Amino acid sequence: MRKKIIAGNWKMNMTPSEAVELVNTLKPLVDNDEVDVVFCVPSIDIIPVVEAVKGSNIQVGAENMYFEEKGAYTGEISPAMLTDAGIKYVVLGHSERREYFAETSGTVNKKMLKAFEHGITPIMCCGESLEQREQGVTMDFIRQQVKVGFQGVTAEQAKTAVIAYEPIWAIGTGKTATTQQAQEVCKGIRECIAEIYDESVAEAIRIQYGGSVNAETAPDLFAQPDIDGGLVGGASLKPDFGKIVQYKQG
Ligand code: PGA
Repeated sequence: MRKKIIAGNWKMNMTPSEAVELVNTLKPLVDNDEVDVVFCVPSIDIIPVVEAVKGSNIQVGAENMYFEEKGAYTGEISPAMLTDAGIKYVVLGHSERREYFAETSGTVNKKMLKAFEHGITPIMCCGESLEQREQGVTMDFIRQQVKVGFQGVTAEQAKTAVIAYEPIWAIGTGKTATTQQAQEVCKGIRECIAEIYDESVAEAIRIQYGGSVNAETAPDLFAQPDIDGGLVGGASLKPDFGKIVQYKQG
């Protein structure tokens, strides 16, 4: 049985002081040992958030990371900086990074390898645009993102990874994919992992759905056999996130 993983993706929101306030608000609401709860926060919020979540079930993730160890890469953040600060997860290849910051599956792959090397669990994002969905190439496109992203990743590493399926047309639009659409693609991703590795890796890897997840849509989505939780943007900044984490009680 895979443990569900529900992660908030704060994006470029929350100053350090706002971040601490939000953690204090959410801490009692997300108290649920049945799921892994992760807050992926802006770099500058990492240290105060790690401090603020102490004693709770919340784990902290970063929203990005560079693939070099250290050096002349102005503005970047290294894997060792993240682990030293208490980071356990990192979101890699979010569609916003691919779109606005020219990230490719190739750079995502380098970051994946580096994250594993440092014991950080990657949450690798993939997902199609509306145009690709309409052209009927959704699964081809996502399979390519997954195959390139996982190049050189060992089976043992892949078992611990998280993949977030996020259709671009559903992100921040209030337009959640239907439960069937989300399940179908997550199942396709699992099959792709089985082809790259084997059934045991496909059974172990956790696949989230993301894109306008809210307290109403979460229970159905998370009840699907191939959906192991969610990556939540907008709703992770509100008390609603507590309801998403407690989706079984809704
Ligand atoms: P959203 O964002 O929940 O606001 O649609 C999800 C994401 O981009 O991770």
